[in-house]
Amino acid sequence: MSSEAPFFPTELACLCKMQSFGSCRVRILLCVILINVLFFNVFSIYQLSHSKTNWARIHGPFYALAFFPRSCKELRLPDKPLTRTALVGFPGSGTTWLRYLIQQATGLMTGSMQVDSHLKSSFPGEGINNSSMLVVRTRDYRREHIASWEKAVILLRNPYDSILIEYYRRVMTTPIIGEKLLAKLKRGWQRYVRKQPLAWFRLNLEWLQHFQGALFVIHYEKLKAKPVEEMKRLFHFLGQHVTDHDLNCMLKNSYNYLKMKPRVTNVTSHFSRSLQAEINRYRARLYRVLSDARNKKKWTRP
Ligand SMILES: *[C@@H]1O[C@H](CO)[C@@H](O)[C@H](O)[C@H]1NC(C)=O
Ligand SMILES: *[C@@H]1O[C@H](CO)[C@@H](O)[C@H](O)[C@H]1NC(C)=O
Ligand SMILES: *[C@@H]1O[C@H](CO)[C@@H](O)[C@H](O)[C@H]1NC(C)=O
Repeated sequence: MSSEAPFFPTELACLCKMQSFGSCRVRILLCVILINVLFFNVFSIYQLSHSKTNWARIHGPFYALAFFPRSCKELRLPDKPLTRTALVGFPGSGTTWLRYLIQQATGLMTGSMQVDSHLKSSFPGEGINNSSMLVVRTRDYRREHIASWEKAVILLRNPYDSILIEYYRRVMTTPIIGEKLLAKLKRGWQRYVRKQPLAWFRLNLEWLQHFQGALFVIHYEKLKAKPVEEMKRLFHFLGQHVTDHDLNCMLKNSYNYLKMKPRVTNVTSHFSRSLQAEINRYRARLYRVLSDARNKKKWTRP
């Protein structure tokens, strides 16, 4: 009789052996049913949380577990006030990812000018603009706002990716899937995309041309390719000491974080030819400003 036991996990085997369950056959049958119910439940919940539809993935029970691996450090406020540092990035440039990396490695909070309630749980500094925040995310490019910061970090990302990712993020939280979502995406996209190239250009241009304090420009693509090297430079700029252990932990969590992000392929094909021409023009102009500023040693960059 006990020869059946090894097929089941220990706890279940114990349950099967309980004397009050009637004959052995009935007990085995009950066990098999129980295991099947458990298995298929867990399996389908797991599948749901990994499904292609974003709604299920985001609202599924495994989202929180997968999205927020164990934090490297408990977030805290600094002992003394920090230099007021802006983190500038066009929507979709990856500023949330960068904030996450900063928090993981330093244990210090990062703030923002606008509140995104989705972020509040993992970014307790969301919506806070004071000298307890290591950096504060902003998308404001009015001159007086730019002048109110002592230091600034600009996260620059290829405009095609930024624009598409941001649009995707906006529609992703709707509970519709498949063909319907595609249709909705297409309808909204044409309207949305028109004004974005100029907006991308202006935000970055205004900061590059008018910010007078210490400036650090970080390219998303480089950060993605060599996160440790780029983050080391950034922490040097921010005056933060981080150990190799901190950086390793940051890197591990970053990998888990990025796994949860949507991947977009064939990006330029979503932009019409005239939009592509417009974007390429803006991008070329911005990179000229960038290299002029670099030649004038306007900012800290090895
Ligand atoms: C952010 O905080 C700084 C310093 O406290 C202040 O000068 C600035 O006006 C604040 N900005 C906004 C938009 O609240
Ligand atoms: C900044 O704001 C947070 C939350 O309101 C507060 O706990 C912290 O003490 C503030 N820091 C400074 C320097 O005012
Ligand atoms: C990329 O987009 C173009 C134009 O829409 C299409 O012809 C091509 O098949 C796409 N490639 C992939 C790999 O999806």
